[in-house]
Amino acid sequence: MKGLFVTATGTGAGKTTVATALARALRADGISVAALKPIETGVDPVAADARALADASGDPALADDPRWYRAAAPLSPYAAELDGAPPLQLDSLLATLCEHARARFVLVEGAGGLLVPLDRDHTIADLAVSLHLPLIVVAPDRLGVLSDALTTCEAAARRGLTVGALVLNRTTPEPDVSTRSNARILAERLPRIPIVLHGYGATDVDPALRALAR
Ligand SMILES: Nc1ncnc2c1ncn2[C@@H]1O[C@H](COP(=O)(O)OP(=O)(O)OP(=O)(O)O)[C@@H](O)[C@H]1O
Ligand SMILES: [Mg+2]
Repeated sequence: MKGLFVTATGTGAGKTTVATALARALRADGISVAALKPIETGVDPVAADARALADASGDPALADDPRWYRAAAPLSPYAAELDGAPPLQLDSLLATLCEHARARFVLVEGAGGLLVPLDRDHTIADLAVSLHLPLIVVAPDRLGVLSDALTTCEAAARRGLTVGALVLNRTTPEPDVSTRSNARILAERLPRIPIVLHGYGATDVDPALRALAR
């Protein structure tokens, strides 16, 4: 499988924003893309992320596969299971992902951050490991990002996951005082990981992100 796994320092960091922009950019480069959201919660009743990703792929049906994991409660899959929702079946999700990945570059969006529990034993990181895909880690470019991003990258490295890029995402129009030095400090501490910026309201992506698809 060729592609990237889009994870984040936490929920609402900008995974869908960056993944949809990247999907459109890759399609403009002539690459056939399937941007997928295999696990989505807070689906009541619309799987909004899956829809946005499928539309950005130019293949709206990608969002409608009934085998994707969906839960109404805006919780981790394990928390939803404890609440009475059917348990997530990781093996079957992997098989479905492989089917959709045939002959296409996949962008797989996780759910929340890297260590979100899928069931008693597994996290989002296990899904990324099973898919053998490099990560894009999306992190809001604001005060607190240094520790959040370093923690996520350390957890990834510990599991043998490669981080293809760390995206500092401007989720607000006005940057806070930390944004002057966030990129520099992260680059110093993560010398092997490209740090790229994604601007507020940006529709295109940094060329370094496009380059990950080559
Ligand atoms: N660069 C940006 N410019 C403008 N708005 C942004 C940007 N990044 C994120 N947002 C907004 O912040 C919110 C959260 O972003 P997004 O849905 O992409 O996060 P996510 O990581 O996919 O969240 P989830 O964990 O729910 O999947 C959305 O309303 C989105 O439009
Ligand atoms: Mg999302």
